[in-house]
Amino acid sequence: MCVVLGLLILSYIAYRLYQHFFPTPNIDPRGKYVLISGCDSGFGHELAIELDKKGFHVFAGVFVPNNVISLQNKLSSNATVFHLDITKQEDIDAAFKLVKEKTPVLWTC
Ligand SMILES: *[C@@H]1O[C@H](CO)[C@@H](O)[C@H](O)[C@H]1NC(C)=O
Repeated sequence: MCVVLGLLILSYIAYRLYQHFFPTPNIDPRGKYVLISGCDSGFGHELAIELDKKGFHVFAGVFVPNNVISLQNKLSSNATVFHLDITKQEDIDAAFKLVKEKTPVLWTC
């Protein structure tokens, strides 16, 4: 039951993100920074690749440390892939620091 609920919530978030990014072809991606967590697989993974291709500067958080390199290899040099476990405060702090070193503004939704 919990799993089903979790999946529903995830699909909803994914849907909202998709709506947010894709029906607006006029957005100029240059100089825009986006942070996406959960880029190990599935939607986050596709989204990171898609936005990177469009020219966004992508911060991609992955849960499994081994995925850092494999995802970095799929993205341009403008993308930053890092390990992120959103249940760990130190990981969140590190992500925040990483982002702040590169940009004062994060383009979020
Ligand atoms: C990286 O970003 C800069 C500035 O937005 C852009 O000019 C350049 O083409 C990008 N490089 C890649 C590999 O996408």
